[in-house]
Amino acid sequence: MNLRLLLVVVSCVLSVVTGLVVSRSGSGPKTASRQRPLIGLSMDTLKEERWQSDRDLFLKKADELGADVAVQSANSDDTRQIMDVTSLITQKVDALVIIPHNGEAMAKAVAMAHEAGIPVLSYDRLITGCDLDLYITFDNVKVGELQAKFLADRIPAGGKLRLVRIYGAKTDNNAKLFKQGQDNVLQPLIAAGKVEVLHEDWADDWKPENAKKIANAALTKIGHNFDAILASNDGTAGGAIQALTEEGLAGKVIVTGQDADLAACQRIVNGTQTMTIYKPIPQLANRAAEIAVQLAKRRPIVAKAETDNGKIAVPSVLLDIVAVTQDNMRDTVVKDGFRKEADVYQGK
Ligand code: BGC
Repeated sequence: MNLRLLLVVVSCVLSVVTGLVVSRSGSGPKTASRQRPLIGLSMDTLKEERWQSDRDLFLKKADELGADVAVQSANSDDTRQIMDVTSLITQKVDALVIIPHNGEAMAKAVAMAHEAGIPVLSYDRLITGCDLDLYITFDNVKVGELQAKFLADRIPAGGKLRLVRIYGAKTDNNAKLFKQGQDNVLQPLIAAGKVEVLHEDWADDWKPENAKKIANAALTKIGHNFDAILASNDGTAGGAIQALTEEGLAGKVIVTGQDADLAACQRIVNGTQTMTIYKPIPQLANRAAEIAVQLAKRRPIVAKAETDNGKIAVPSVLLDIVAVTQDNMRDTVVKDGFRKEADVYQGK
């Protein structure tokens, strides 16, 4: 990762990559007739809990910053997401924020937005193969590394850890990065015979029911003879835990996750899920709203990193993450106000 300080003058980026000339400090053509800038937020889905938090926090911050937001959610459908973006462009939004269902398919949306003179921020997931203006996310490789390190620390002395791996959606670039981070830690351990992967698969669209099918397939193939399920997020962990529950194995098998979803935090304190990764969504949503408002006003943005999206080095803002277990639940997600103690420890 290139960590050099990069001053990104968005107007210049736009003019270079799209041929548009946008005023550097003044309002672009679309803000002129409006009191408050209008930001378009195109989301993949609202079905998982985390994305509802992302939306609510983003809307709140944008409002505080004096901007309006038009939100669309595509229900995990690429055609629908392109239609959503088309509709936002028709509404003459001043900046677009996209959470792509499919990072590759949304390159077309970026090109359409640029043709209309609208800058695009890719939110959490990277849009690949296009002249993207900015990207904000967590350190996704590190997410995978922390999940795998957690397991590496639990290899039985003198023995090996028998593992089932559940990856996310193949259409999501993040899913590949999580796997890359996991591989960074696991490959040497697999080579040393300390970890054995007995079953692995990708959960289409990150759906819990698909993760449950993968766990069921593993149980059919290997019976109860495994120690851990490396689930890539809390939704897939939930699906896997349902399969374990049906076999009387919940709480006996280590299960990882990611997102600090309320249901996952509850499973952790109840002992059926072992860990999650807390990605401070308020930081992501707040910073993204700030950037989107700046983009809408055609102001320069400072980014410290770059991400290769297959076409350009996209100026990027990367946020840090933390692994959460029963031990530090109160000191992390609860302390941050991300989850209420009463909700997490409900009935305890
Ligand atoms: C996000 C995860 C999320 C997953 C499924 C990924 O791109 O980074 O936080 O759990 O998508 O929605």
